[in-house]
Amino acid sequence: MKLNLILNFALCSLLGSSGALAGSSCCGPDITSRAYHARLLDNYIAVWGGNLSLIDTVFHPDVVLFVDSFPSANGNGSTVTHVTNRDEFTAFVERSRTGWKEYYFEPIRTVAADYSIAVRWKMHGILGSNFTLFPTPLKAGASVTYNGTDFLVQDDCTGQIREAYIAADSISYFHAMGLESVTV
Ligand SMILES: *[C@@H]1O[C@H](CO)[C@@H](O)[C@H](O)[C@H]1NC(C)=O
Ligand SMILES: *[C@@H]1O[C@H](CO)[C@@H](O)[C@H](O)[C@H]1NC(C)=O
Ligand SMILES: *[C@@H]1O[C@H](CO)[C@@H](O)[C@H](O)[C@H]1NC(C)=O
Ligand SMILES: *[C@@H]1O[C@H](CO)[C@@H](O)[C@H](O)[C@H]1NC(C)=O
Repeated sequence: MKLNLILNFALCSLLGSSGALAGSSCCGPDITSRAYHARLLDNYIAVWGGNLSLIDTVFHPDVVLFVDSFPSANGNGSTVTHVTNRDEFTAFVERSRTGWKEYYFEPIRTVAADYSIAVRWKMHGILGSNFTLFPTPLKAGASVTYNGTDFLVQDDCTGQIREAYIAADSISYFHAMGLESVTV
C-alpha cells in the first residue's frame, strides 16, 4: 500500500499536477480524507507557530497567498499581500512572526470538504522587545489576540496547500496593536 502510494506519487509528479490524470485517484487517494485534512491543518497551524521545517511538506512549491490588508510599515495604513511561491510564503510567515515573544494560532472552527479547508482561528501573541514591523504603542510583554478565517485549497495531486486566502479581522488586529487611526 505504502509502495503503491509512492509509485502513484512519482507517476503524478512526472505527469505534473495538470497532467492528464490530475484529480484522478492516481494522485494520492486519501488527500480528501478527514484524517488527511486534520493532519494538513495541524501542520499548517504548526508552520504559523514557527515550525518552518514543515513548509516543504505543507505547501506546494507554487502556492499562492492573498491577504487583503496587513499593517503598512508606517503603521497608518494597510497593504495588500500577494505571494506566488513557497519561498515568498516562508518569508511572509517569518515576517509576520518577527518581534513576537509568543505567536501561535488556535483553530476555533474548522470545516473541510473535497480539496478545501476553512478554519476560523484565534491568534495568541505576546509582544517581544524587538517588534519592528510597524510602530505600536504597546510595550514588550503585551498580550495580543485577534481572530480571522483562512480558506485553503489543496493541490489535487500532491494534497499540499496550493492556494491560501487569509481573511484576518484586520481592523480588530490594528486596534489590538494600539493603532487606532489606520486607514484601509
Ligand atoms: C516540527 O514538526 C515536526 C513534525 O511534526 C516535528 O517532528 C518537529 O519536532 C517539529 N519541530 C519543532 C521545532 O517543533
Ligand atoms: C502615514 O505616515 C506617513 C509618514 O510616516 C505620512 O507621510 C503619510 O501621509 C501618512 N498617511 C496617512 C494616510 O496618514
Ligand atoms: C532585532 O531585530 C533585528 C532585525 O530583525 C535584528 O537584527 C536584531 O538582532 C534583533 N535583536 C534582538 C535582541 O532580537
Ligand atoms: C475571537 O474568538 C474568540 C473565540 O471564539 C471569541 O471568544 C472572541 O469573542 C472573538 N473575538 C472577536 C473580536 O471576534
